[in-house]
Amino acid sequence: MSKRVAVVTGGIGGLGSEICKYLARAGRQVIAADLAARSERLEAFRAETAGFDGAIVFEPLNVADHAGCAAFVERIAAQYGPVSILVNAAGITRDTSLRKMSAEQWGDVLRVNLDGVFNMCRPVVDGMTAQGFGRIVNISSVNGQTGQFGQTNYSAAKAGMHGFTMALAREVAKKGVTVNSVSPGYCNTPMVQAVPEEIRNQIIANIPVGRLGEPREIARTVEFLAADDAGFITGANIPVNGGYFIDF
Ligand code: CAA
Ligand code: NAP
Repeated sequence: MSKRVAVVTGGIGGLGSEICKYLARAGRQVIAADLAARSERLEAFRAETAGFDGAIVFEPLNVADHAGCAAFVERIAAQYGPVSILVNAAGITRDTSLRKMSAEQWGDVLRVNLDGVFNMCRPVVDGMTAQGFGRIVNISSVNGQTGQFGQTNYSAAKAGMHGFTMALAREVAKKGVTVNSVSPGYCNTPMVQAVPEEIRNQIIANIPVGRLGEPREIARTVEFLAADDAGFITGANIPVNGGYFIDF
């Protein structure tokens, strides 16, 4: 059987790049889809993944561009085969309290974190149901579950992602396609290193495990949900947060 094709949006980011490596080690042909703008990071990513012998390739993508996503999925299918696994990990923050938030800061975060999930799921879903197999994993956040000071935009988008996950899971369950969310807590990536140090230290002090998460700990969870034998888990949200938010 030829390798299943996995697309990871935000694929050269802190979590995305580790997810690409885990999926490639699990035998997938991985497409790391990300903005083309960051040439330094892209070079570093290519160097980090050179040992994967073509199992991880970079393709430029802006998840906020609806028509661009449809064209991307068509191009990937023609070049590599139909997309069987989609991991939506592209994300941005524009943190500020609501009283200072501009419409642009609101819109940018919603367009990438939430519209981006729609823009990518919409063109892959027919191919997955036709194959009778699909795995969609949406990277939400603990801050979508709890809310965070300075993140009305991001918390709304991340909570919205999980509503989307639950609804789509119901629509495609009979066709062998699962749709799940992973809600990471604070991890050791540039996104979290950008939080002011004093606030970051307060957050770490409230993580029962006593440290930030590592990207590989998120990647391991995504690989698990994307496995061929994970077909009975759907519409779920898997928290991976070091005990920062524990609920039932
Ligand atoms: N909790 C309580 N009060 C706070 C606060 C906080 N976290 N942050 C600021 N305040 C207070 C300030 O002390 C200030 O009080 P006074 O008016 O009495 O002086 C008031 O709120 C307004 O503060 P600012 O004007 O500084 O607020 P701001 O709009 O500039 O934004 C902020 C502050 C930069 C957003 C800051 O709150 C912050 O960094 N919060 C954390 C954001 C965060 O955790 N982001 C996560 C990014 S990583 C990520 O998102 C990944 C993931 O999914 C986990
Ligand atoms: P990151 O290192 O900033 O990676 C995100 C990637 O998405 C970056 O490469 C970014 O490119 C890219 N991206 C931004 N806008 C895009 C667009 N329009 N189209 C395509 N790609 C785009 O962040 P991360 O920490 O790996 O986060 C990955 C995901 O996990 C995000 O959805 C984030 O919200 C979520 N998350 C992270 C944490 C954490 O602790 N790190 C916790 C919970 C949830 P640029 O760098 O060029 O913008």
